[in-house]
Amino acid sequence: MEREHFKSTFGVLVAMAGSAIGLGNLWRFPYMVGVYGGAAFIFVYIILVFLLCLPILFSEVIVGRRSHTNAFIAFERLAPGSAWKWTGILMVATPILVVSYYSVIGGWSLEYLFKACTFSFTQGATRDELGTIFNSFITSTWTPIIWHTVFLLLTAAVILGGVNKGIEKFGKVMMPLLFLTVIAIAVRSVTLPGAGEGLVYLFKPDFSKITPEVCAAALGQGFFSLSVGFGIMLTYGSYTRKEANIALNSTWTAVADLMFALIASCAIMPAVFAFGLNPQEGPGLVFETLPFLFANMPLGGFVAILFFLALLVAALTSSVSLFEVGVAWLVEEKHLSRKASTWIVFAVTWAIGVLCSLSFGRLSGISIFGNSIFNFLDKLSANWLMPLGALLIVIFTGWKMKKSDVIDEFTNGGTLRGNARLSGFIYFLIRWLAPVAILIIFLSNLL
Ligand code: PHE
Repeated sequence: MEREHFKSTFGVLVAMAGSAIGLGNLWRFPYMVGVYGGAAFIFVYIILVFLLCLPILFSEVIVGRRSHTNAFIAFERLAPGSAWKWTGILMVATPILVVSYYSVIGGWSLEYLFKACTFSFTQGATRDELGTIFNSFITSTWTPIIWHTVFLLLTAAVILGGVNKGIEKFGKVMMPLLFLTVIAIAVRSVTLPGAGEGLVYLFKPDFSKITPEVCAAALGQGFFSLSVGFGIMLTYGSYTRKEANIALNSTWTAVADLMFALIASCAIMPAVFAFGLNPQEGPGLVFETLPFLFANMPLGGFVAILFFLALLVAALTSSVSLFEVGVAWLVEEKHLSRKASTWIVFAVTWAIGVLCSLSFGRLSGISIFGNSIFNFLDKLSANWLMPLGALLIVIFTGWKMKKSDVIDEFTNGGTLRGNARLSGFIYFLIRWLAPVAILIIFLSNLL
């Protein structure tokens, strides 16, 4: 049977970038930078993105295009009858866990979009007031759960209604708009009095701060932000045409993703220092800092609406890609209808998400290995499950697939000259460096 293909290279890029660019860049990256020591973290992050995450992204797309199928069948198809089929389970379970807590933060952005639309940030609110508003919001029981539900419903609606096309079109407008908005906010942020310290914090690395923990966190962030490690990009790869240049698409995705993350940090960190906030604030950082900026910039009320609307779209394109994995698995493997599958995934992710949401308030007393439920799920997926998935993918590509097949996919049968020149090096990264580095980071994390 002929599989669907993306019509244009641009379509693949939009889908890949849509999955990659999301809350990971604007919410998670800046607060991880704060928690893990500023420039040192960014330095390690950039190296890991290009040396490890990008080759892994190549691997995923290569396996996808070669096998012409989704993540849970791909391994079995390329290595029939082997234990590789169990990898598929990991590839389905991880996105379900991620989308559960992702949609809690998606819900927070909805609340803030709502606040922006009612011009709550322009009334001269002080920093402390904004902090209190945020804290009482996330620790309350019902409002965050309602928004989490709305966010998941929006995701399910896209999945069910096939409004994919609509959201793709919307995304093509919103993504550039988001980029411009974040740049505008960054300009405001770096021109605040006292912002210089924030820039130093972001760009002058203190190498003594680089510890195994920082490396593990940066690697986890790289996987999270690029959506690698559990077959989403693999599935997109399977839709890629024979003529498409896999390496170029993946590199563009990685570069765009990195730019978003860096500019978001420039929007947030200088402001954090200028206002005397604590950079180690954690998940609330973006939500506490930006509203204060909006309250203090020209046309701030308007910029706030634009920002949160664009953030919502970026978050939705990512959550749709996560949600779809579970649905596709139920439809293709368990032969359920698309509708039933959507509601099953909805029910599971909703329930897990509710626990995550409550872990900021009512359930804050519950600790799993010293983490709240939310932090535990976040660390479990980004620091353990995604690296594990990535490890399996590179071992598969580097050791199980034939070298000639891998190179063939990477160079389109040798027709892409530039790729052909790089292919030896990339193959080395996939076969040796990536698995060894992931293992080392894993082990050092255990000690
Ligand atoms: N990469 C997305 C983001 O940065 C999140 C995501 C992770 C999406 C994993 C798909 C898979 O927000």
